[in-house]
Amino acid sequence: MRYGYFDDTAREYVITRADTPLPWINYLGSDGFFSLISNTCGGYSFYKDAKLRRITRFRYNNVPHDDGGRLFYICDGDTTWSPAFLPAKTPLDHCRCRHGLGYSVFEGGKNGVSAELTVTVPRHTDMELQKLVLKNESTEEKKLTVYGAVEWCLWNAVDDAANFQRNWNIGEVEIEGSTVFHKTEYRERRNHYAFYSVNAPVDGFDTDRDTFLGRFRGWSEPRAVEERTSFRSIAAGWAPIAALRLSVTLAPGESSTLLFRLGYAENPPGRKFSAPDVVNKERAYAMLAAYETPAQFDAALEELKAYWDALLSRFTVRSSEDKLDRMVNIWNQYQCMVTFNMSRSASYYESGMGRGMGFRDSCQDLLGFVHLIPERARERIHDIASIQSRDGSTYHQYQPLTKRGNADVGSGFNDDPLWLVACTCAYVRETGDFSILDEPTPFNNEEGSEVPLMEHLRRSLNYTLTHRGPHGLPLIGRADWNDCLNLNCFSHTPGESFQTCSNYESGKAESVFIAGMFVKYGREYAELCERIGLSAEGEKMRAAAGEIEAATLAHGWDGEWFLRAYDAFERPVGSRENDEGRIFIEPQGFCVMAGIGGTEYGKRALASAEAHLGNEFGMEVLHPCYTTYRDYIGEISSYPPGYKENGSVFCHNNPWITLAYCTVGDGDAAFNMYRRNAPAYIEDRSEVHRTEPYCYSQTIAGRQARTFGEAKNSWLTGTAAWSFVAVSQGILGIRPDYDGLIVDPSLPKCMDGFHAVRLFRGTRYEITVRRGEDKGLRVDGKPVGGKTVPLASGAVCSVELVI
Ligand code: GLC
Ligand code: GLC
Repeated sequence: MRYGYFDDTAREYVITRADTPLPWINYLGSDGFFSLISNTCGGYSFYKDAKLRRITRFRYNNVPHDDGGRLFYICDGDTTWSPAFLPAKTPLDHCRCRHGLGYSVFEGGKNGVSAELTVTVPRHTDMELQKLVLKNESTEEKKLTVYGAVEWCLWNAVDDAANFQRNWNIGEVEIEGSTVFHKTEYRERRNHYAFYSVNAPVDGFDTDRDTFLGRFRGWSEPRAVEERTSFRSIAAGWAPIAALRLSVTLAPGESSTLLFRLGYAENPPGRKFSAPDVVNKERAYAMLAAYETPAQFDAALEELKAYWDALLSRFTVRSSEDKLDRMVNIWNQYQCMVTFNMSRSASYYESGMGRGMGFRDSCQDLLGFVHLIPERARERIHDIASIQSRDGSTYHQYQPLTKRGNADVGSGFNDDPLWLVACTCAYVRETGDFSILDEPTPFNNEEGSEVPLMEHLRRSLNYTLTHRGPHGLPLIGRADWNDCLNLNCFSHTPGESFQTCSNYESGKAESVFIAGMFVKYGREYAELCERIGLSAEGEKMRAAAGEIEAATLAHGWDGEWFLRAYDAFERPVGSRENDEGRIFIEPQGFCVMAGIGGTEYGKRALASAEAHLGNEFGMEVLHPCYTTYRDYIGEISSYPPGYKENGSVFCHNNPWITLAYCTVGDGDAAFNMYRRNAPAYIEDRSEVHRTEPYCYSQTIAGRQARTFGEAKNSWLTGTAAWSFVAVSQGILGIRPDYDGLIVDPSLPKCMDGFHAVRLFRGTRYEITVRRGEDKGLRVDGKPVGGKTVPLASGAVCSVELVI
C-alpha cells in the first residue's frame, strides 16, 4: 500500500493523506540553521547543534506522537482547521504534503478556503520561512482569524527536558510590533536570541504557553483560538512561546499571502543591548527586511532549487529502471547530503541530545557526499582527523559546535582509524587534490601538535598493526563497526553502557571484519603512497596487508564463510560451531570487497550469506538470532531476536554485499540485493515498512522478529552513502580514480545499458553503456584499452562502453 507517489519532475514525494504509518519527515537548511519537518508540520529547528542550540521545542516521547512544531490555525466561522491537518485535527476537504529538496509544501482546504503553506530555509540565512497563501474559493466573503505559533526551547535541549527547577524560572521574551523575540538567558552568558515574526500587523499575541492553551488543553484546542482572541500574555518563566494572531478578509476568489519567519541571530559582545535589558535587534530586523515580501520568498526558493539542480547534475543516470534512476538522481543523493550535515544527531529517532558527529559515521557519510561538494568534504576530513590521538586511536565522536572529541564516549573502537584512510583516499580520487595530504592536522585538537594529514593515515593503519591478537588478527577493542558486538564488555549492571565499559579487557578478542577493512584500505593507502613517491612505505603496507590477508585465510575462514570474530576466550564467533549467531554479514561483505581468497572464496561466502541471511527486504546481520543474553557477546544479545544488531536487516551493511557481488562479477545478484531495500522499490509495501518511502532506514525487522519487514530509524544511517557507492560505483560501475574515470558496470541481465552524466574534475563525462558485439571502451569515438577513461581536458567528454 502507498500513501503518496513520487513526482520525479518536481523532485518531490507527494503524500496524499495525513495518516502515514509514522511521521514522514524532511530536512530544511544547508548551512547553520536546520529544521526537521514532518508531513503534518511537526518537528523543530536548531542552529548548528541540535543539543546545544535548540530553537524550538519538541517532545520525542509525546502522545500523540509528533504534536507541536509549526502551529497554524485558520478560524472560519465555527470551524478551526490547520493546513497540514495538525494541530487542529479537523478533517480537511483535501490535504497533501509535498516534500521537496530543502522545502515542504502543505496544501489543505476546508469549507471553500484553501491554504498552501510552503516552508523552507533559504541558503545562507538563519531563518525558516513559512509562506501561507490563503484563497477564498467559495462564493461568499470569508472573515478569517489566523494564528501562527511556535514553542521555544530554552537552548540546551537536554536541560530543557530535565532541569525544570531552573527552567521554569528563566524564560524571557520581548515583543515589538509583529515580532516576538525569545531572549532566555540573554542577560548573562548568551549573546544569541531567536524571533518569530509575520509580515503584517497582528491583532494580538501570546507568549506564555499555558495562558494561550488554557488548563487541560493541548495544541489541538488552545483556549485563545477557541475564543478567537489573544491574551497578550508576557512570558515570565514557564514555557515561552510566540503566538501571533491576524485577521484576513477575503472576497470570493481573492487570495492573501502571509510570510511568517522564524529566525536566530547573534550579537557581538559590545553590542548586546540597545537599552538596559533590551536586546539589540538590528540583526533580526536586517534579516527580516531581506524576506519581507512573497517575491523575496519565491526568489529564495528558486535559488534553492537551482542549487539542487546544480548539485544533482554532477551525477545523473537514465536507464530502463525508473526506480533506480529516481534513487540515484534524486533521493539517494539528497539523503547523502542530510547524513553529511546531521551525522547521527537529529532525526525522529536520534533526539539530537545524544550523539554528536561520529568518527566512523562521518567518514563513511563522506563516501556518498564527496562528489557533491568536495570543499566541504575536505574541511570535514580535517575536523575528523583533528580528534585523533598520537597513537592512531581516536575519539569516537565530537560536538559540531566545539569540534572537540567527546570525552564521555572516549575511544577504543578499533575500526575507527581505518575509516579515515577510506574517506581520504576517496577524496583524493575524486578531486586529484593531493595537497590535502600535506595539510597540517593536530592530534586531539592540541595547538602545536600538527603533522601532515598523511601521517595521520599512517598512524591509523599502524594502530591496527600494533593491536593484534593471538591469531594475528586485529583486536576488536570496545567494538568495531558493529557497535553491539562487545567482546570485552561482560556487563551485568543495568544501564551500564555496552559501548564504553570493558569489565574484562582480555587483550584477545579479535575482529575478522577489521581484518577485511585493513586489507582493503591498507592497499588503498599503499597505492596512495606510491602515487606520491613513498614507495618504501607503500611496499611496507602492502606486505602488512598480505600478512593480515594470510591470517584471515588461516584463521578467519570457517569452511563456507568468513568468521566474524574471536571472543575473549579465543572462541570463534559467527561459526558453524556456534549454536546461535552462526554467520554474520559484515565479514562476507568486507572480506570479499577486499578480495581475500579471490573469487572462489568470495562466491562461497556470498552464497552462504544469501542462504542463511537473505530475506525479501535484504540480508540480516546475523543468523540465528541470539535468544539469550550472553555477557561475552555483549549488546547484540540484549536485543530481542530480529531487532537491531540482533538479526534485523541492518541496512548499512547490505550495500557491502552488493559491492561484494560486483567484485565477484555477479551483476544479477548485485542488483537483486540492491533493490530489496532501495526505498523506491518497496514503496508499495509502505504499510509494512512504515518509514518514509523516499529514504533509507537503519534497520528493518528480520524474520525472527514479531514485526518482520517493519523499518525504524529512518534518515540518519550510513546506508545512504554506501547505497550510493554501491549503485553508482558498483552496479553502474562509474568510479573516480587517480588517473581518470573507471567505467566498469556490473549490470543485471534485465538492464541493457544506461546513459549517465558524471561531472568529474571539471569535465562533463557523457557515458553510454550498451550491450553489443562491438565490445570495448571508446572515448570521443576512439578505442581505449582497459576500463579507465583518461582525464579529459575539455569541457565535455563522450564515453561509450559496449559490454
Ligand atoms: C549505528 C552507528 C554506527 C554503527 C552501527 C552498527 O548506526 O551509528 O556507528 O556502525 O550502528 O552498530
Ligand atoms: C546502540 C545501537 C547502535 C548504535 C549505538 C550508538 O548500541 O544499537 O545501533 O550504533 O547504540 O551508541
